[in-house]
Amino acid sequence: MNRTILIATEKPFAGKAIKRVQKIVRNANGFDLKLLERYNGNELKDSIKEVEALVVRSDKVPGEVIKSAKKLRIVVRAGAGYDNIDIESASRNKVVVMNTPGQNSNGVAELAFGLMLGLIRRKYLGGPGSELKGKSIGLHGFGHIGKCMAQIAKGFNMKVYAYDPYVSGNVMKGFEVKECKSAEELYKKVNFVSLNIPVNEETERSINYKLLSKMKKRAVLVNTARKDLIDEKGLMRVMKEREEFMYASDIAPKWKVELEEKFPMRTLFTSKKMGAQTVEANMNSVVAAVNQIINFFEKGDTTFQVNN
Ligand code: 3PG
Repeated sequence: MNRTILIATEKPFAGKAIKRVQKIVRNANGFDLKLLERYNGNELKDSIKEVEALVVRSDKVPGEVIKSAKKLRIVVRAGAGYDNIDIESASRNKVVVMNTPGQNSNGVAELAFGLMLGLIRRKYLGGPGSELKGKSIGLHGFGHIGKCMAQIAKGFNMKVYAYDPYVSGNVMKGFEVKECKSAEELYKKVNFVSLNIPVNEETERSINYKLLSKMKKRAVLVNTARKDLIDEKGLMRVMKEREEFMYASDIAPKWKVELEEKFPMRTLFTSKKMGAQTVEANMNSVVAAVNQIINFFEKGDTTFQVNN
């Protein structure tokens, strides 16, 4: 009997990307593909019951859903951050969890620059803005997205610094990036900071008042990572105290409306999370996810597994 792969996305992949994976699944023997798009939470619980494999984006996959999916063997987060999946419950229920690292990084990195430019070009309203050339950027996190950003930043003739306790200075050197030994050092040094780190116990609300107040005059913070990295009270305090501090993000903070009303030229938010919303990023990550699932069942390949 065929195994079913369910792609469940509240924010659907581009049609072209879906067509590609439909073809991959047709050509692989022994698999069926099922789609669940623009759904609400309960529908996932129903649809997952009969499937062996699940592909999601930022969709929440809580423990109760995993527990109810008796045939489920693997969940692949088509993307980088897997904070939306109950990893412990997956491990308890012997469900393998994977992500697809690097597949959507360029889309996220390009959006971060788009947001930076939007702010310093004063939202394209015609007033005089400023340029990226000659300015410094601090990459908080030097994984796949940080590396893409470093390459793009060089094209803008920016000076690039990075802080990442999990990446060696030699790797940074290879990208002509100067290493900072602490977040404080990075935030003090640069004109722009881009957050490129996952949210977890260590990083949650770590971008706080103390850190942000170290940033230079007219500093810009760009968050294309996760909402919960930011201590929003601290951010609001900095925005109120410093008339030149700017914040841009594609993840709406709790006080988005208030921030936009009070500081219209110092904030820039997209209508939804959209770093990975490009045809290219969609294509790369869903194709990788489906291939990983097929390889898992056919060859026992567990590359990119993130749980034990
Ligand atoms: C990721 O973690 O891969 C990015 O945040 C993209 O998330 P998305 O697939 O929900 O757009």
